[in-house]
Amino acid sequence: MIIAKTLAEFTEAYGKLEHKSDVGFVPTMGALHEGHISLVERSVGKCSHTIVSIFVNPTQFNNKQDLATYPRTLEADCELLEKSGVDIVFAPRVIDIYPEEDTRVFDMGGLDNYGEGPRRPGHFNGVVQVVTRLFDIVKPAFAFFGEKDFQQVAIIKYFVQKLGYPLQIVPCDIIREDDGLAKSSRNTLLTAAQREAAPHIYRTICKAKELRKSMTPQETIAELTKQIDANSELETEYIEIIDADSLTPIKNWSDSENVRLWCAVYARPVRLIDNIGL
Ligand code: PAJ
Repeated sequence: MIIAKTLAEFTEAYGKLEHKSDVGFVPTMGALHEGHISLVERSVGKCSHTIVSIFVNPTQFNNKQDLATYPRTLEADCELLEKSGVDIVFAPRVIDIYPEEDTRVFDMGGLDNYGEGPRRPGHFNGVVQVVTRLFDIVKPAFAFFGEKDFQQVAIIKYFVQKLGYPLQIVPCDIIREDDGLAKSSRNTLLTAAQREAAPHIYRTICKAKELRKSMTPQETIAELTKQIDANSELETEYIEIIDADSLTPIKNWSDSENVRLWCAVYARPVRLIDNIGL
């Protein structure tokens, strides 16, 4: 496995790959856990070569503290990736990705109107900046994204189609801890009390599957919010019940055949997101 820490190092390593038309790509921000590794394993199983990027992308952080405290564990990450059968780890410097300030502004076709979009202004624009830049460099045939970030996958798929990238996006299931908490690099920032409380989020949102039989989507959201907030460690920022294709909230269950619930909950200052199909 080659660890390329500059664009020049990456270009050299990439040049030596035998099957450039069958590259699987897993973009990450590092601090890797089993959620990331599940994407890597999908890629290694499917593609001749797997490239993983580790880059804490400054343009997608709308909160400076979140960027400053984002965990960075390159050495441990590379050990995990080597064991998983990765060919190249691309861990570039900011200047390799953004030789000049990236001023591109992307129209998301409304996919960012709800969910994380309005709560993290500029976040998805930064994600599209970095992912398009990485696609241009890595030129993958397949790119693997986790449904943990449900809105992110939908937005990336939209741009792959809109900008005509010759690659396929492979959405991958959410990997959870045994207690149901969605694995996340930010989980390491939780206090012991917050970590104990955090599985309450998934346990509670799963109740929507029952509640929908007797409540409207709005009533379901109100009930789940009340139940999550009953835990003093947690504070719901939003719960939305949406059509999984348009990513817009539904008023009645019959409005969509592909219903998703997504949420963000604070265990301050950490912000946790999750989602489930209903
Ligand atoms: P990061 O948060 O590091 O996540 C990298 C990939 O791992 C994403 O596709 C994410 O959805 C997936 N992932 C994280 N936790 C997961 C889990 N518990 N189960 C399944 N998949 C999981 O998402 C980003 O980085 C960045 O926005 C990025 C796409 C790299 C652009 O900077």
